[in-house]
Amino acid sequence: MFIVVGVTGGIAAYKSVQIVRLLVLAGHDVHVIPTDDALRFVGLTTWEAISRNPVTTSVHDDVPTVRHVALGQSADLVIVAPATADFLAKQAAGLAGDLLGTTLLATTAPVVVAPAMHTEMWNHPATQHNTGVLRERGVHVVGPADGALTGGDSGPGRMSEPEQIVAAALAVVDAAGDLAGMRVVVTAGGTREPIDPVRYLGNRSSGRQGVAVAVSAAQRGAEVDLIAAHTEGDALEGARAHPRVRVSQVSSAEDLQAAVSAAAEAADVVVMAAAVADYRVDAVSEHKLTKDTSPDGTRTLTLVENPDILAGLVASRRGGQTIVGFAAETEPDRATLLERGRAKRRRKGVDLLAVNTVGWTRGFETAENTLYLLNAADDVVAEASGTKHSVADALWDAVVAARSAR
Ligand code: CTP
Repeated sequence: MFIVVGVTGGIAAYKSVQIVRLLVLAGHDVHVIPTDDALRFVGLTTWEAISRNPVTTSVHDDVPTVRHVALGQSADLVIVAPATADFLAKQAAGLAGDLLGTTLLATTAPVVVAPAMHTEMWNHPATQHNTGVLRERGVHVVGPADGALTGGDSGPGRMSEPEQIVAAALAVVDAAGDLAGMRVVVTAGGTREPIDPVRYLGNRSSGRQGVAVAVSAAQRGAEVDLIAAHTEGDALEGARAHPRVRVSQVSSAEDLQAAVSAAAEAADVVVMAAAVADYRVDAVSEHKLTKDTSPDGTRTLTLVENPDILAGLVASRRGGQTIVGFAAETEPDRATLLERGRAKRRRKGVDLLAVNTVGWTRGFETAENTLYLLNAADDVVAEASGTKHSVADALWDAVVAARSAR
C-alpha cells in the first residue's frame, strides 16, 4: 500500500519513527510528511532513512511532480501521528498552508489521526469540538491514551503506542480485500530439534517469506494464524503489528505439527512455508552433553524421522480446503528444478507448490526471492520474483485462482 504518514510538532514524533518502521517492515511504500515544527523533534534524515523514500516539507519542493497533491492522490491510507491540537484545528477548518494540509485536502483515502498533547489541551472545548468535526467527516481517531506525559504530569493526552496506531490504521483499510472472510493458517521459520537443554539441530530459514505470506493474506482481508518456528531478528514484527494476524511460536517439528493441525481444522487455506527438520534426535539428553567423544574423535547422534506434517494435513483436509506447500531446492537448472517440483507436488498431494531456489547466498536470508508456483495440473501458474512481499502477493493470486477454478 502507498501510505502517507504525517508528523506534526510534538515530542511524540520520536515514537512515530517506529510507526514508519513497522509499516515499511510490513512491505508498505511509506511517504513521510513532517511539518516544519516536527523537524525540530526528529530530523529529515531520520525520516528518509527509515521510510526509504525522499521526504519534503514544502509545497514549493519537487514542483514538476505536483507533489502538493500527488502524495494525497496516490495514498491508500493517511496516518497523522502525533496529531497536535494545532493540527486538529487546522484540519477541522480545512486549512492547506503546508504540504501536509494540501495532501489531506487532495486525498480520498481513509485518514487516521493519533492525537498527542497535554490533558488540558485535549480537554479544551476547542480541541474536543475540532476532533468531533473530524470524526463526523469520517476521520478515524486513535487514542489518546491515559498515561505519563512529558513534564511529569499524567492523564489523557499521551499518544497511543505505535503498534496500536499501525494496527488500527491497517484495520481501517484491509477489511474489504479479496480474502475477506477467509481463515488462513501459515507456518514460517525453521524448526529446532533439541539435542540437549542447550543445543539443537536447526536450519537457515529466516521465516521472512512465511511472515510475508501471512501479512499479505491479512492485508487482503483474511484472518490469519501464523505459526512461527524459529525466525530471524525482527522478522515477526510486521505480523505482530497487524490486527488480523495471530502469532503463535513453536520450536520443534512435533510442536509445529500439534499447533498447525489444531489451527487447520477451521482453515480455508493452509500454507506450509516453514522449513521443517526431516529428522530429530532419537534420545534428547536431559543434561548438557559433555565432551566425551569416542577415541577416534567422533560423536554419533541417532536421528529418527519427523512426521511429514504437510502429508498429514493433506490426508485429513476438510472439504474445500486449499493446501499450499513449499519446496526449498538447490537445483540450478530450471527444467530439472521444475521436474523435481512437479514430482514433489504429486508426492505431497497439495493444490499448489511454491518452488523456491535456495543456496548459500540465495533465498534464505535475502530480502528478495524467486518462486515458481505449480498448480494441481502441474502447470507453472506464476514465476514470481522480487521482494518477499510481492512474491507473497503472487502466491495469494494463485490461491484465489485455484479456488475459483474449482
Ligand atoms: N514439510 C513438512 N513436514 C516435514 C518436512 C517438510 O510438512 N517433516 C513440508 C514443508 O513445510 C514444505 C514441504 O513439506 O511445505 C516440502 O518441504 P521440503 O523440505 O522441500 O521437502 P521434503 O518432503 O523434506 O523432501 P526432500 O527433503 O526430499 O526434498
